[in-house]
Amino acid sequence: MSMPAATSGGPDEGRARHVAIIMDGNGRWAKKRHLPRAVGHQRGVEAVRAVVRGAKGLGLEALTLYAFSTENWRRPDDEISDLMGLMKRFILSDLEEMASNNIRLKIIGDYKAFKPDVVELIEGALARTAANTGTTIAVALNYGSMDEIARAATRAAAEGPITPESIAAHLDTADLPPLDLLIRTSGEERLSNFLLWQAAYAELWFTEVLWPDFTAEHLKEALDAFAGRERRYGGR
Ligand code: FPP
Repeated sequence: MSMPAATSGGPDEGRARHVAIIMDGNGRWAKKRHLPRAVGHQRGVEAVRAVVRGAKGLGLEALTLYAFSTENWRRPDDEISDLMGLMKRFILSDLEEMASNNIRLKIIGDYKAFKPDVVELIEGALARTAANTGTTIAVALNYGSMDEIARAATRAAAEGPITPESIAAHLDTADLPPLDLLIRTSGEERLSNFLLWQAAYAELWFTEVLWPDFTAEHLKEALDAFAGRERRYGGR
């Protein structure tokens, strides 16, 4: 398999192009304050808004956010419907700002499993921003990495030999730059079925900060730590 191109001394060396975040800790944030979990998720959406706004000045080509996993269907129905409601309201309230900031929205995962009104809003948002050329905000919805790899392998096999390259070409993230940095909030240090393939050479950054408290400053802190790390891609 070809390695990511080595950079040597250019002005952008060490600059992250693609960052992904496992946004964890909404429930614990609410519990600490004796508030309903739904309030934690609401504050989580506010953190999404702040980070998306902040990403603009950080020169990222792509920011991938884990919003709803294939495992999240196991949560109680009222929590799932709170999350869907928040997603819908976020699109309605923030789409125009994102569109006018040249953001391109993308979904990874099988969002078509959601209710028709959610699917319709998502597709409207994708169409509205499809021609934009700035940062891609990729939202993972009904996403699981093992499911993604299985789907990619099936499509690769239909076309010819299965190789790392042929699988990679069919991943949901195939049109995004290689993943540079994966962040998880709330002190948990697991990948939880998120971007397993893409994380092969990514740097990992964990913070105790709960997602609702995460700001663009924390993102900058992670990017600064990334810029200081030496990546060897298995070489020396
Ligand atoms: C983890 O907190 C968070 C989630 C399962 C959902 C993340 C969703 C959002 C931040 C809002 C929707 C996103 C967009 C893009 C509008 P948890 O509930 O697992 O927290 P806990 O581990 O503390 O219980």
